[in-house]
Amino acid sequence: MLKVRIAVLVSGGGTNLQALIDAQKQRKLRSGEIVLVLSNNANAYALTRARENGIKTEVVVKTERDNEVFEREVIRVLKENKIDFIVLAGFMSILSENFTSLYKNRIINIHPSLIPSFCGKGYYGIKVHEAALKYGVKVTGATVHFVNEIPDGGEIILQKSVPVKNGDTPEILQRRVMERAEWIILPRACEKVCKDIQREMKEEKEKENL
Ligand code: GAR
Repeated sequence: MLKVRIAVLVSGGGTNLQALIDAQKQRKLRSGEIVLVLSNNANAYALTRARENGIKTEVVVKTERDNEVFEREVIRVLKENKIDFIVLAGFMSILSENFTSLYKNRIINIHPSLIPSFCGKGYYGIKVHEAALKYGVKVTGATVHFVNEIPDGGEIILQKSVPVKNGDTPEILQRRVMERAEWIILPRACEKVCKDIQREMKEEKEKENL
């Protein structure tokens, strides 16, 4: 069956991208195939991970461009590569409604907290864990959700909780959330959504052939 063409959008280290690549190798991710890794940061280590695994890379930098120009270029690259499905894996740029409405139910994001806690504008990366520790929560985790026009506001697909421990620093907590939640639920959610998209694509093809 035709595989869903996946683009993973990244900005940094790419450990979540690595989890997706590993899942693909283990055939846990099998309804889709990562055909493109796109970064808004030319120095992102995620790009090295992609290249080492033979995955095409593209860089679209935002500096000195307004967001509209930036997004137009990203969309052009996605179209050129016939992308069906977008995974935001540590992508540190908020997408506008113009963009998200073009890919309705076709974009997912991993966020390092249990939404609706510590999410929305300004909550990204280590800041999320700093906020969780400051608040004093005893449980945190990660969430995979669909992306719509509200930052971190789309429908939740999967969540997994992780304990906060005495003496945790933001960095220690970040690592625990990645290991025990993010790297597990992102590939799982990705396969789940790809399977649904694959079914839809099949039905559309059948309709065309009627
Ligand atoms: C991850 O913890 C991810 O959940 C977070 O950034 C990190 C990227 O790490 N994303 C957000 O905060 C988005 N709001 P990675 O590059 O090693 O996957």
